[in-house]
Amino acid sequence: MPTNKSTPYIFLSEEIAAILQEKSYQLALKGGPQETGNQKLAEDIATELFELFNDNDKKLINDYISGKITHLVFDGFLNTDIDGNPIKLPQENQFPTLEELEADIEVLKLASQEQIILALLNETTFAFDSENEGKIVRVVANFRGGGTQKLANEAPDGSSHSGKAVVPHTEDPYYSSTKVEQGHSPSPSSLILTARWNPLSETTKLAPIERVLSQLSKEEIVALAGKNFNFRAAKTASEGKSVGGTHVSILDLNDKGRLAANYNLERFSVDPAASEFIKDTYAKFSQLAAEIKFDEINLQPNRTLVINNPLNFHCRDTVKDNRRVLVRVFGYRKNVDYLPINQDPLIVKG
Ligand SMILES: [Fe+2]
Repeated sequence: MPTNKSTPYIFLSEEIAAILQEKSYQLALKGGPQETGNQKLAEDIATELFELFNDNDKKLINDYISGKITHLVFDGFLNTDIDGNPIKLPQENQFPTLEELEADIEVLKLASQEQIILALLNETTFAFDSENEGKIVRVVANFRGGGTQKLANEAPDGSSHSGKAVVPHTEDPYYSSTKVEQGHSPSPSSLILTARWNPLSETTKLAPIERVLSQLSKEEIVALAGKNFNFRAAKTASEGKSVGGTHVSILDLNDKGRLAANYNLERFSVDPAASEFIKDTYAKFSQLAAEIKFDEINLQPNRTLVINNPLNFHCRDTVKDNRRVLVRVFGYRKNVDYLPINQDPLIVKG
């Protein structure tokens, strides 16, 4: 179960879990979300699946689509591998390489399952050309070490492949959360995460931005909506290839008229030419984002978390068990304005 009672979640019926298992392997055997044609297949599966959810769960799905809820956990996926056997943990220090995991049928199945769930939420799975080498499926793990148990060839490099803690942030790119800006596509509408393995139940943390915004005055909100902020270039692979940017806003109104955020606690700064009030507001906002209370989700192979990216900050502590492997993909809502590079699979300019 999710750690927090406040987290909205859908517990899959046995029927839905069995269908998802079968259909996800079918998509995985074709190559997973990277494969041309799988997006349409995922959408067809999602259309059929939607009818099988009960009224409460349909309402949660629609509430996520309309932005009434900021995140959603799907629980109760089958905990068996392609042969129907229980999922086995690799030995410590003998886990696969990034390349092996990217081709692993179980990873492709989890990613395909995520593509179907995103389709259920009316979103198209995509990747930025500027992140994860333009690949749709991102495997997140301590490939360079950094866990409690040292690897034989441990070589941490400061990236999130090295076990470093991840500060509160929304996803890059940071030019805008709502539209094409300065020649860059907006940040993702959603990110969806599950775990291939997570033996120590190390959690993913998230907090709706409302927890910070509710502590700000009207004037402070307006200050954060002005183009008074800069962000530094990405330093590591995990941060993408962003060269950094100037004169961006932290808050914007999204297509539903809700405040949406663009922010990274480490990479953002206030423009030196901004007024004292804006500088003070930025200091207050950063402090609140650093001290906010986060919900914690224990991702496992049978549990998936969907996050409305601009409506939440997410982060995690330093990963202790190097075998913790997450599978992540991004989704865009249907009406989002972006700069396409490839239509199927959808790759956009980041
Ligand atoms: Fe992130």
